[in-house]
Amino acid sequence: MSYTYSVVKLFTHQTTISLYLVKHILSGLTRCIQFFSAFTGALFLGGCNLDTRMSTFVTKGPVAETQYDLFMLTVWVTLGIFIAVGGAFAFAIIKFRERPNDDRPMPSQGHGNPLVEIGLIGASILLLVIIAVPTLQGIWYTHDTPEDPESFMGAWYSGEELAEEEAENPLIIKVIGYQWWWAFEYPQLGITTANEMVIPAGKVVHLELRSFDVIHSFWLPRIAGKVDLIPGRTNSMWIQAGDNFLRWKEKQGVAGPEEESPALRADYAAYLEEEIHNYYYGQCAEYCGDSHARMHFRATVVDNEEFAEWVIDERTGHGTPDGKTWDDWYADYADNPDSLTGDLNEGLKLFMGRAKCATCHVVKGNPRALGVAGPNLTNVGSRMSIAAGWLNHRIEEDGSIDLKKQYDNFYKWIKETDVVKPGNRMWKAGGGGIGELIDENGDPALLTEDEIHKLSLYLQSLK
Ligand code: CUA
Repeated sequence: MSYTYSVVKLFTHQTTISLYLVKHILSGLTRCIQFFSAFTGALFLGGCNLDTRMSTFVTKGPVAETQYDLFMLTVWVTLGIFIAVGGAFAFAIIKFRERPNDDRPMPSQGHGNPLVEIGLIGASILLLVIIAVPTLQGIWYTHDTPEDPESFMGAWYSGEELAEEEAENPLIIKVIGYQWWWAFEYPQLGITTANEMVIPAGKVVHLELRSFDVIHSFWLPRIAGKVDLIPGRTNSMWIQAGDNFLRWKEKQGVAGPEEESPALRADYAAYLEEEIHNYYYGQCAEYCGDSHARMHFRATVVDNEEFAEWVIDERTGHGTPDGKTWDDWYADYADNPDSLTGDLNEGLKLFMGRAKCATCHVVKGNPRALGVAGPNLTNVGSRMSIAAGWLNHRIEEDGSIDLKKQYDNFYKWIKETDVVKPGNRMWKAGGGGIGELIDENGDPALLTEDEIHKLSLYLQSLK
């Protein structure tokens, strides 16, 4: 076999391969284009629903609205660029494509035309400025918590025991991210809750964001975009569910900032009640380990009176199942635990003893349930979900709690905690979490079905 022959063979062979590849890439591309056209077509024809519970397109407050406006501005500008550049390109390749027996002369070449080049540079600068100015404005607006007198605690908070210097501050919530749940502390009010924050409608709320362990990200899409929680530093943001009175008035087209009447105030109150008063879904938006996808949270937006009532409930906490004082209950628990009967007492005894819940959980009112490693369980029975929003028992139609489902969720969480949220730190038999559960003889032992039943009933009663 001669050298020349080998080279020729090699070349022809490669050419065959290249042609084969090109053909396949082209047919792949065509299929891709067909698929995406069909997909977008289906979305539009099907009237794709943007009004989902975590939609960024149906905003409920000035922060999310500013971010949405900026997004849409960028979409329109880039869509314009796409049409201009893509249109010119399509025009050129169709009009000037080579035809069979084409004897047209070469069209005139515009390369290096100063008018075109300077024009394109100018247009690019102009478009960048059109995007940059509102972007910077938006960054400043969403960065600094606005000083809105109507949002100051003194202007709307009707509960008791507000330190005087707090009257000129907005509500502050410290958000702390844990693997994989959220703590919400209200320093001005001396309360802490977990996974379901409660905020007043139409009021600025200042958030301080910290992490206990790794980076998390706070994202409540209808109300505000994401801000990260970073270990070792405090980030801040502000949120507001619904507009304040001024902004709402402007949108209504009511003339003058001085415009003020009881009827207008009533309309504003109705707007908050009908459009804003609701239950909002949030989610950790930064990968943070095993159960990142199950690190949800909720925001319940309420009116001023409901907020004050909620604060009182959280501060008061819980008594013993049959109305004894806690001192008496603990005396019985130590001396004669068998005298504490009934499912709830049995559940509470488990909570304090064998199941070791109190080592990691606070239940306000109970002087010995003081653990801070896990979510605060004060009023956990009135929350709409457990396990950081992963197990839900809210009835969507009327916003009430499905008690059967709630019981099942508590039961499931205690029984199969690692199935519900892999990697969590609950007590377990066999270790893996904070430690191993043992029976009265000191041997490793899971909770029995009867024990889980009583604990679930007790937790459900915390409301
Ligand atoms: Cu926390 Cu992802």
